[in-house]
Amino acid sequence: MDLIGEPKPNVRQLLAFYLEAGVDCALAEEPVDRLSETDAPTAPVRETAPSPRQLPIAAPAVPRSEIAPPPEAAIAMAREAARTAPTLEELRALLENFDGCALKNTATRLVFSDGNPQARIMFVGEAPGRDEDIEGLPFVGRSGKLLDRMIAAIGLDRSKAYIANVIPWRPPGNRTPTPQETQICLPFIQRQIELVNPDVLVTLGNPSTQTLLSTRDGIMKTRGKWFDYDTGTRTIRAMATFHPAYLLRSPSYKRMSWQDLRAIAKALEQS
Ligand code: URA
Repeated sequence: MDLIGEPKPNVRQLLAFYLEAGVDCALAEEPVDRLSETDAPTAPVRETAPSPRQLPIAAPAVPRSEIAPPPEAAIAMAREAARTAPTLEELRALLENFDGCALKNTATRLVFSDGNPQARIMFVGEAPGRDEDIEGLPFVGRSGKLLDRMIAAIGLDRSKAYIANVIPWRPPGNRTPTPQETQICLPFIQRQIELVNPDVLVTLGNPSTQTLLSTRDGIMKTRGKWFDYDTGTRTIRAMATFHPAYLLRSPSYKRMSWQDLRAIAKALEQS
């Protein structure tokens, strides 16, 4: 029993509590006591110690440097920063220093891209997951292995393709990014596409397709069709196909994805 009469949770219950709250990996080797950080706002004083169940999930005070600006200001900052990046290296450096998206504070590292910046084909997913967050590279987990096989199906590999995500930081617990987070990150991926300047852009799954190809239609309707993606300086042929994570859950759609990949290979041959 603790001070307010609730039974103390055991380790299994505590872990279940954290998992439910989206805490499924450690951010660092050593714990950080946010409450003792000097520039943190003072937490309200409680008369009695709270039980773990009463603790708010985001209870620790957030240091001022980790408080993201309001979404409109962050979107304006992102547009300005992305616009001024003359190269991919500088875009990456700008993102490393960009404090407008709170996802940066919970992610382990930035997941910018993998593959060849000179590639003629660029794949864009939604957001990094746990494995990508650990390695700092997109699509390295189970769905990444399937993406590699999809790329191999058109006779290529990562040395001849460029891979990125709409969101470059892992959302905590792999939750869906909010519309604000997506809008804040959008100017950066748009600039990344412009700088890579591929002949074919492939959006993987609904979120990436709807965000980049400005459609509200679902993947069943959008997949396998050609879209025009306007970078501002050039129109790129774009095709949506299933996200590999979706194909892992629903393998019967691999046949359709194969058809999409055939069309993509043909377009690459012709351009
Ligand atoms: N899913 C994505 O959309 N991107 C990754 O990098 C990994 C999984």
